[in-house]
Amino acid sequence: MFKKLISMMTVDMAIDLGTANSLVYVKDKGIIINEPSVVAVNNKTGQILAIGEEAKKMVGKTPSYITATRPLVNGVISDFEVTEQMLKYFIEKASASSKKLFGIGGFSRVIIGIPCGVTEVERKAVRDAAKNAGARTVFLIEEPLASAIGAKLQIQEAGGNFIVDIGGGTTEVAVISLGGIVVSRSLRVAGDKLNDDIIQFAQKEYKLLIGERTAEHIKISIGSAMPSKEKKEMAMRGRNLVTGLPEEVVIFNDDVQRALERSVRQIVSAIKTTIEETPPELLADVMTDGIFLAGGGSMLKDLDVLISKETKMPCKIVDDPLTSVVRGAGIALENIETLSEVMSKDDEEEAFT
Ligand SMILES: Nc1ncnc2c1ncn2[C@@H]1O[C@H](COP(=O)(O)OP(=O)(O)OP(=O)(O)O)[C@@H](O)[C@H]1O
Ligand SMILES: [Mg+2]
Repeated sequence: MFKKLISMMTVDMAIDLGTANSLVYVKDKGIIINEPSVVAVNNKTGQILAIGEEAKKMVGKTPSYITATRPLVNGVISDFEVTEQMLKYFIEKASASSKKLFGIGGFSRVIIGIPCGVTEVERKAVRDAAKNAGARTVFLIEEPLASAIGAKLQIQEAGGNFIVDIGGGTTEVAVISLGGIVVSRSLRVAGDKLNDDIIQFAQKEYKLLIGERTAEHIKISIGSAMPSKEKKEMAMRGRNLVTGLPEEVVIFNDDVQRALERSVRQIVSAIKTTIEETPPELLADVMTDGIFLAGGGSMLKDLDVLISKETKMPCKIVDDPLTSVVRGAGIALENIETLSEVMSKDDEEEAFT
């Protein structure tokens, strides 16, 4: 009876704390939060003014006493306090419905995606932040694993599954078999670096200073991983670094492709190296099923075509690549008993479950 009551008051939620976007998934409700990982803080009072989309709009436009920051860099926490506040906001929002029913919260079980290969200190930081934010039990799951589950790949079987999650801060390449990661590689080159490449290009080529949002807009609109016969152009607004005045310059798709080339090559090369490290038995499966791409960065035009060409293997973007981590983590939490060997949990938290 007591156990049942506890389970009724428990809110299970999955969180993808991404460098660029944070998502929260709640069982039976689906994705309830999908916002940029940006927090606006009043420096004088330490008060949080806005989180998500609203805060992102403030980036580069705030008065001096407000800072709009991204609390995560390359997939790991860089600002602990702000991350904790953000998690608190997420957990409170997700528990809101259970609070209405029972007048209490704080029974939440939270599963959070983390990049593979992060240090024990970094894992602890995520756990502590979630605990301080009100989570009762915290599970951590490696993001490529969550992504693969979200993409409905058969990860529990003995075959090999090759997944590449290209996010904002990190590209993670992993080979999964029997529910665990066999080989993995994490690279700090992903969507954000591509934006930066465009900023650098504009500066070098046109002496034009453009903002990050402009660069991202250019990347998404006319960027590509491979040269194309099709000609596209776009007006890019910024400030001329010599005159200091606002200026508009036209940028072409082949310029953008060249600006992105070096970083794209690094991503492809990380995939190739991982293939070289994959046990041959598993590689045979990958040759048939192909490489699966997830994460927002995987949507760069023709990146899948380039990876397929370079690796001589089929390559496919998973359905809804921006949400696969959070959906997969949600599924993992619902099946925590069967998946427990691949998950890591706070030991001291056993008591209540
Ligand atoms: N259509 C698109 N073409 C190219 N890039 C895109 C597209 N849509 C989104 N992106 C990029 O995807 C990135 C965000 O992806 P995602 O939300 O998966 O990252 P994240 O999970 O927050 O980061 P990380 O996993 O590295 O912590 C951004 O850099 C964004 O510019
Ligand atoms: Mg991600």
